[in-house]
Amino acid sequence: MRPLARSDAPSYVELVIGGYGEFERMLGLDRAGAALYEPFFRPGIWVVLRLLRMLRVSPVEFEVAVDGARIVATTGLTLNHGTGYIFAVSVRPEYRRRGLAGRLLGWSEERIVRRGGRWALLDVEEANTGAVALYSGRGYRVVEKVDWFRAAPAVVGALASVDASAVWNLEPSGRKAAAAWLARVVPAGVTEVATPTPRRLTHLQTLGAFPGSRSAAWGAGPVNAPVGYLTGSQRAKGEPGVLILAAMDPHADPALGAALVVTGARWLLSEGASSALVAVPDHAAAVGTALERLGFHRELSTLAMARPLASGGAPSAGPKGP
Ligand SMILES: CC(C)(COP(=O)(O)OP(=O)(O)OC[C@H]1O[C@@H](n2cnc3c(N)ncnc32)[C@H](O)[C@@H]1OP(=O)(O)O)[C@@H](O)C(=O)NCCC(=O)NCCS
Repeated sequence: MRPLARSDAPSYVELVIGGYGEFERMLGLDRAGAALYEPFFRPGIWVVLRLLRMLRVSPVEFEVAVDGARIVATTGLTLNHGTGYIFAVSVRPEYRRRGLAGRLLGWSEERIVRRGGRWALLDVEEANTGAVALYSGRGYRVVEKVDWFRAAPAVVGALASVDASAVWNLEPSGRKAAAAWLARVVPAGVTEVATPTPRRLTHLQTLGAFPGSRSAAWGAGPVNAPVGYLTGSQRAKGEPGVLILAAMDPHADPALGAALVVTGARWLLSEGASSALVAVPDHAAAVGTALERLGFHRELSTLAMARPLASGGAPSAGPKGP
């Protein structure tokens, strides 16, 4: 195993694209192909990332397993406020069930501990039973289930009558207060693992964030007593846009949550989105029901899974650890 090298680009991209599932297809990543990864491998960015990695402050790190010159397994890692977020875990089909993913997870967990983190967190499609078994076997537990809904432009267009007067743009200056509100409203089991911050109101934002994406955020209810927040990001014209319901006050009218989503969906379409995808965490499931009534269609569910790591040393090995 070793860090990803710039010369690995073609092999890395082929492997990651080969591991795509329903979730990536829902986001349209299969159509974007290799172009999506091109910014990571640009010489300037690569040099900066390598330097930051040496200083142990890199925002993102990739580790790979190789067979000769060919990459056969990979994982990515990013660190936020004491939590390591693991993504892009993928193993070539002919190399599966040999413990490679387990070893790469072990590397990620050790790296998180070495950089002072206490939690490992990841998102996985609920229907990806093999991956869920892999993570459960290493001691990861579900902290949140998230339902993903989609609305075509025609559905959003037909919602002209939805009253969005209680929805406002969240300006950068309001993000600190929003993060503090979210820390109180989001279930403790989630915030303990993924602390809301002004830059990242919810860890789910990572799933819609791609280089060059345009982003926005909204709040609902009185500005000094909000009842919910939504973030949005649009990768490219003609591609699906992503909305994430960061939180909704459980006592608030779910129609306000739906108004937030409809506002975000209108923005996405004005940015050229082919459809609006919406992530609704289980604590706000009533908003999902309201969206279905408006014609949004449930596509799939993802699970946020996390495991605590031993502080000040190597992580305790999961039952299936290498
Ligand atoms: C999921 C994936 C990463 C697993 O990689 P892997 O190298 O085969 O996993 P490991 O060999 O380390 O598996 C360790 C344990 O996890 C469990 N596991 C892994 N894959 C499994 C599967 N398909 N079905 C059931 N259990 C599975 C088993 O308990 C396994 O131990 P065992 O082989 O002794 O029974 C791989 O199948 C893959 O790349 N899939 C496509 C991409 C993907 O779905 N990535 C996850 C995105 S969140």
